[in-house]
Amino acid sequence: MSESLRYGLVGCGGFGRFCLGQYRSLEDVELVAVTDVSSSLAEQVANDFDLEQAGSAEELIARPDIDLIHLATPPGTHYGLAFAALSAGKHVLCEKPLTLNVEEAADLIELARNKGLVLAVNLIMRYNPLNQVVRSLAAGEVLGKAIFASLINLAQDEVLPPSHWFWDPGRSGGIFIEHGVHFFDLFEWWFGPGRVVSAGQVLRPGTDIVDQVHCAARYGDMTLGTFYHGFHQMLRQDRQDWELVFEKGVIRMTGWVPTYLEADVFLTRAELDELIALVPGCEVRIVDEYEGELRKVSSRHLSRTVDVHAILTCKPPVTKEELYGKMLRELLSDQINAVRSPSHQRLVTESNGITSLAYAVEAQAMADHDSSANPTVPNHVP
Ligand SMILES: NC(=O)c1ccc[n+]([C@@H]2O[C@H](COP(=O)([O-])OP(=O)(O)OC[C@H]3O[C@@H](n4cnc5c(N)ncnc54)[C@H](O)[C@@H]3O)[C@@H](O)[C@H]2O)c1
Repeated sequence: MSESLRYGLVGCGGFGRFCLGQYRSLEDVELVAVTDVSSSLAEQVANDFDLEQAGSAEELIARPDIDLIHLATPPGTHYGLAFAALSAGKHVLCEKPLTLNVEEAADLIELARNKGLVLAVNLIMRYNPLNQVVRSLAAGEVLGKAIFASLINLAQDEVLPPSHWFWDPGRSGGIFIEHGVHFFDLFEWWFGPGRVVSAGQVLRPGTDIVDQVHCAARYGDMTLGTFYHGFHQMLRQDRQDWELVFEKGVIRMTGWVPTYLEADVFLTRAELDELIALVPGCEVRIVDEYEGELRKVSSRHLSRTVDVHAILTCKPPVTKEELYGKMLRELLSDQINAVRSPSHQRLVTESNGITSLAYAVEAQAMADHDSSANPTVPNHVP
């Protein structure tokens, strides 16, 4: 392999183009060529980024001057393309989800491992510094144990016309698989192994489009997580709210790529200092201070001591796009380090690709079962 890792892109749609814009600034990546089933789109992107155009995915994969193939095509194509690329001895960066089902994902993982190749899934959430703060809070003791976490994802559908592949479960896998995997991966990273306990979905009236899904998952012996994804908003109304309840306070974040974190906490002074050290660059506001008997409180039938009610806020000085781009670059650099040194420990591996998919597949199966077993039967008793 040459000094830089030589990169080829399959799929020049919205996300492939965004990734090219990010990866071109990476010193250890040499962007070589692109392809798309739409040759006019591939030509345009090749021209815009001063790259070569391959006539097809097969042609790109066969090129000896490419080390890594990035698949930014719809989910239903991932298995076949990744299988072909790995078989040809290429490392693969696959967009999420890895595949549409767990069996195919396992197949790809086995192939990559047998051939000693890196198979990466672009599950970027772990590279967000705010998500990393939550990870250290969930792993540590300063806020006590995590009790409940919820994600409410009110997503835009303004750029998703009815004919878009996103709405076709045969091509996308459905919302849990196409999009939910990001969040299943993150919750498991925060809270440890879990399982989906219930799920449901809603059809847009008068259509066969599922535009709302929800599910609950349980992690360990006490943490409950809930996920709501609704794709029904105007672009300008797209918003996501996170609420993570710990024994000693609540973390709130906003944005599907969170760019704002707030910790509303009740702590001793020593715990507050510890928390401040874990949230780099945060602003601290003391809401209340307690003296004497008022310091003694209890919750969950446990006594504790509280000196302060404080609100910490953290807003990295970057836009969502800048942070998103940084997360993408960090994930690819992490995977390249694993190409160079097989002992390198990656933050995201192919195992996370299959595990996040397993949650999504389970949630989709439960939602399908619920829809067929209970076709909109109201509980109302006259
Ligand atoms: N990691 C992330 O944060 C993130 C964000 C957005 C999208 N994605 C993923 O990226 C992928 C693409 O999403 P998008 O929004 O760019 O879709 P898109 O429809 O805009 O682009 C997909 C492109 O792939 C091309 N294509 C389809 N089949 C092909 C084939 N067999 N060979 C060559 N080209 C083919 C299409 O012509 C299209 O140009 C999806 O898997 C999506 O889930 C990931």
